[in-house]
Amino acid sequence: MSLPEIDLSAVPAHVACVMDGNGRWAERRGLPRTAGHEAGLDALFDAVDGALEIGVQWLTVYAFSTENWSRPLEEVRFLLDFNRATLRARRDEMHERGVRLRFVGGRDRRLARSLLREMDAAAELTAANRRLTLTVAFNYGGRAEITEAVRRIVAAGTRPEEITEDTVGANLFSPDIPDPDLLIRTSGEYRLSNFLLWQSAYSEMVFLDVLWPDFSRRHLLKAVVEYQRRERRFGGLDQ
Ligand code: IPE
Ligand code: IPE
Ligand code: MG
Repeated sequence: MSLPEIDLSAVPAHVACVMDGNGRWAERRGLPRTAGHEAGLDALFDAVDGALEIGVQWLTVYAFSTENWSRPLEEVRFLLDFNRATLRARRDEMHERGVRLRFVGGRDRRLARSLLREMDAAAELTAANRRLTLTVAFNYGGRAEITEAVRRIVAAGTRPEEITEDTVGANLFSPDIPDPDLLIRTSGEYRLSNFLLWQSAYSEMVFLDVLWPDFSRRHLLKAVVEYQRRERRFGGLDQ
C-alpha cells in the first residue's frame, strides 16, 4: 500500500483504533503477555507517523478499558506502570511533532496519582498543538462515559424536555472531538468492546487480521483506502 493510492482530499478527519492482539502476539512467541504490550508501543508510534503523513487530524486509541481491570493483577499493574513510563519518555517527541495529547476515561482511585499527574502534564505541555490530536482512552468505557454524562445532566438540574442528543454529546468526556469517521480494530475480533459507543454511531468499521504489535502505518493506509471505497449514507439516500 503506497501513499499515491490514497485520495488526500478525502482522508478521514478522525480515526479511532482498538489496539488489540498484544497478548496473542506475545504468546505465539513464547513470551509473557506484557512483552506484547511493549511491542505494541512501536505500532502506535508508527500509526501516529502515518496519521501525520496523510493529514489525519484526530487519532483516538483504546489503551485500557474499564473491563481490563478484571485481568490478572500483575498484567494490570504492568499496564499502569508502562503507560506512565511511556508518557514520560515520549511526550517531548510527540510535542515536537505537533501532536496534542489528550486522555479520556475515568479518573478513579485505582489510578495512581503519579500517573494522573503525568497525563495532565503531557496534556498541558501539548495543549496548543493542532497538527494531530492523539487521544488515549485509558480506564475508558463507552457505557461509563454515557452514564457519567447522564449524571452531569441530572446534577445540572436540566429538565427532561430540554435534554437533546446535543445535551448528551456535550456532556461526554471530550465533547469537542468529532465522531470517528473510521474505526479500526486489529486482531481479527469483530466487536467494539465498549469503545466510543455514542460516537461510533455512523463510523465506518474496518477489521484487520493483524495483531496490534504487527500493525504499522501501512495498515493504517490500507484501512483508509478501504474507508475511501465506502459509501457513507447516514440513513439518507445518495442523490
Ligand atoms: C490489547 O491487547 C491491549 C489491551 C487490552 C490492554 P490484548 O492484551 O487484549 O491482547 P489479546 O487480545 O489478549 O491478544
Ligand atoms: C479492548 O480489547 C480494549 C483495548 C484494546 C484496550 P480487549 O482485548 O480488552 O477486548 P475483548 O475482551 O477481547 O472484548
Ligand atoms: Mg484483547
